Amino acid sequence: MKTKIYDLTDKTIYDEAISSACEAIKAGGIVVFPTETVYGLGADATNSDAVRKIFEAKGRPQDNPLIVHFGDFSDCYDYVGEVSENAGKIAETYMPGPITVIVRCSDRLSPLVTAGLDSVGVRVPEDEYARDFLRKVNLPVAAPSANISGKPSPTKPEYAIEDMNGRADVILCGKMCDYGVESTVVDCTGEKVRILRPGAVTAEDLMMIVPVDEASISLEAELRPKSPGMKYRHYKPSAHIIALDGSDEDIISYIRDAEISDDTALIFFDSILERLEYKNKLSLGNRNNPETAAHEIFAHFRWCDKMGIKKIYISCTSSGGIGDAYMNRLTKAMDEYIRLGE
Ligand code: TXA
Ligand code: MG
Repeated sequence: MKTKIYDLTDKTIYDEAISSACEAIKAGGIVVFPTETVYGLGADATNSDAVRKIFEAKGRPQDNPLIVHFGDFSDCYDYVGEVSENAGKIAETYMPGPITVIVRCSDRLSPLVTAGLDSVGVRVPEDEYARDFLRKVNLPVAAPSANISGKPSPTKPEYAIEDMNGRADVILCGKMCDYGVESTVVDCTGEKVRILRPGAVTAEDLMMIVPVDEASISLEAELRPKSPGMKYRHYKPSAHIIALDGSDEDIISYIRDAEISDDTALIFFDSILERLEYKNKLSLGNRNNPETAAHEIFAHFRWCDKMGIKKIYISCTSSGGIGDAYMNRLTKAMDEYIRLGE
């Protein structure tokens, strides 16, 4: 397939790009578009033939449901079932934004979107390009992250092109995604809200407005498995990933004793990196600002794949806030977890 690739930051072709993307969706095609979390791969959520193309392009198992994107939350009422009071409150406070609410579904959407479940995820991105595209297409757009299944989600246009050129009809390129991790997913079908995937809207943010099921908040115990190497893998670069959990001092002395070759990468906070002299150093920014770690993790993993990195040492963050989203992605990608200083 010949993919049309557009740079949305080029004002001279902007209108043509958005129209081309809207036409492709209406004709049952698939379109890559930027959002503030990660790049998405979208199709008309009411058209099963179109939705099937998403699963084929990604190599995604059909039992994993897709979330549905709208330009405005009010547009979702025509396509979903009951929207609970909790879902409404969350939408009012945090949408548009990096969160997905799970509500009851209706038969207006393709059954492939929900993978046979009686619920569906609704998301209203705040990225200006995403919103403009979604408002103009005026259809519910089912969209997972625009990576090939198992690879890190694309947070930069070049990574979306790498995975989807030749597979999607249109690729809309924006800038690097603001958050770099996928939206917070919250199940709003019960009395208490359950956090299914941590993201930039944090447990603390949600607890201010709705009752949250405590058991669903990612606790340190869950994030840091006792025995390494047994995790179900997901966001996986090809390198062997070793997560180090400890103070700057502990990590620095561990690395100085370790075997570091030219195809090893070190993904650490600046306070650690500035005291180590090695080739492939990738920054997670300031330890007190986990936003940067979340923003960079997938881009660093992609860089490692491109450079043929075989081994990655990477730092954990403390839990709470967006650090939970970072640790959730790292836990799914890592092969080994080492707790230092005990
Ligand atoms: O930020 C994001 O959410 C990005 C951008 C493109 O919007 N999308 C995204 O989609 O990350 P995806 O498919 O990669 O992740 C959606 C997650 C999956 O883990 C899926 O299993 C879960 O949401 N999910 C979807 N529908 C669900 C449902 N009805 N019940 C429970 N989980 C659901
Ligand atoms: Mg994904």
